[in-house]
Amino acid sequence: MSNKMWGGRFASAPDRVMEEINASIGFDYKLALQDIEGSKAHVSMLAATGIVPVADAEAIAAGLDEIRREIETEKFTFSRALEDIHMNIEARLSELIGPAAGRLHTARSRNDQVALDFRLYTRDTIDTLDLQLRDLQQALAEKALAHAGTIMPGFTHLQVAQPVTFGHHLLAYVEMLSRDRGRLADARARLNECPLGAAALAGTSFPIDRFATAKALGFEKPTGNSLDSVADRDFVLETLAAASIAAVHLSRLAEEIVLWVTPQFGFVALSDKFTTGSSIMPQKRNPDAAELVRGKTGRIFGALNALLVVMKGLPLAYSKDMQEDKEGTFDALQSLSLCLAAMTGMVRDLEPDVARMKAAAGSGFSTATDLADWLVRTLKLPFREAHHVTGRLVARAAEKTVGLEDLSLAEMRDVEPRIDESIYTVLGVENSVASRTSFGGTAPENVRAQAQGWLDRLEK
Ligand code: ARG
Repeated sequence: MSNKMWGGRFASAPDRVMEEINASIGFDYKLALQDIEGSKAHVSMLAATGIVPVADAEAIAAGLDEIRREIETEKFTFSRALEDIHMNIEARLSELIGPAAGRLHTARSRNDQVALDFRLYTRDTIDTLDLQLRDLQQALAEKALAHAGTIMPGFTHLQVAQPVTFGHHLLAYVEMLSRDRGRLADARARLNECPLGAAALAGTSFPIDRFATAKALGFEKPTGNSLDSVADRDFVLETLAAASIAAVHLSRLAEEIVLWVTPQFGFVALSDKFTTGSSIMPQKRNPDAAELVRGKTGRIFGALNALLVVMKGLPLAYSKDMQEDKEGTFDALQSLSLCLAAMTGMVRDLEPDVARMKAAAGSGFSTATDLADWLVRTLKLPFREAHHVTGRLVARAAEKTVGLEDLSLAEMRDVEPRIDESIYTVLGVENSVASRTSFGGTAPENVRAQAQGWLDRLEK
């Protein structure tokens, strides 16, 4: 049998390998609902402009609704011989309503059709991801509010640096996720132009109304250049870039969870819901979900990189290379969605070990900066000199293997004679965090206000 869609020019069927390499139905079936939505908007415009008879347009729309039901109830049979989702649906339409089905493809090509379907899919997915990012922000902000005063070590170089609060640490991710949402919103705003009506590449001689289809499909306006409409995939690249950056953020939080649940850190515990055991070592509690969030980052970056490479050398307009835009994108965006769900679950689930975190916060002379600041404030030492004096006190404490707060006043005065009793008020981790009241700083009162502010904004 020669091909249904272009049988006029072809006498025989494609080679088996030709069919195999050419077919995209194995993955673009995911665009079925978008394809139907686009076709319905197209055919109603064709009727309104008098390009196809109203009766045929109505039969087509009813047939498309029937096909949607078949797909939703899993009664639709996808066929590889029909190559892709567009031809699968059109072929079924002609089975259902007969020759009138042939009018649907007037003033349209699969090139603008697939560009449309993929934009609709990407737009829908951005909306879902935005909701999920919001949920994760909310989970983080709630935990942050509950732990606005829970003290933990803040790290630089993964060395204990200065005490911070757990709430403050969690809110750092709320900020990152807010920028992730902003990037997705930017991508969405730019992609929100309708390519339908660009036809194969040059536009069409039929008196179509591109503004009507754009409006019906929720787009801002039609795309301005027919070649660009069918030839670019920057809307996907941008979405994948935003997804990749979000994945970086999730991966870093995942890595921290992996560290925090180790017996060595012991900062947080995950319940059995988010932990797996080992088949051989009965004592093990593994944070597999966090590891997978970290691990799936690879395929998300991979999809971005793959599509950049696919697109970089293509002359305008459409080339079949572009069919390679889909699988990686579906996989990447679905993976990000799953990672967001898993991360939200873990954040809600995890419980910090408050005492353990606080003890760790005091280790490694983490209040040395507070001591230096005290010398500057109280003794009016220049900061560099205060740094030096503090360094010598740290060396003393290290020699004796005690904390700074355990040095006696006499020992301190040995290094700097003007030091008095009041120095001890800045040495505890509580004093340290409470004093960080600068805007954006870690003081519990700041953190409480920030967390509450986020929760109020996220409600809206
Ligand atoms: N399945 C194709 C794709 O995903 C649809 C467009 C086909 N266009 C063409 N001129 N062969 O890119």
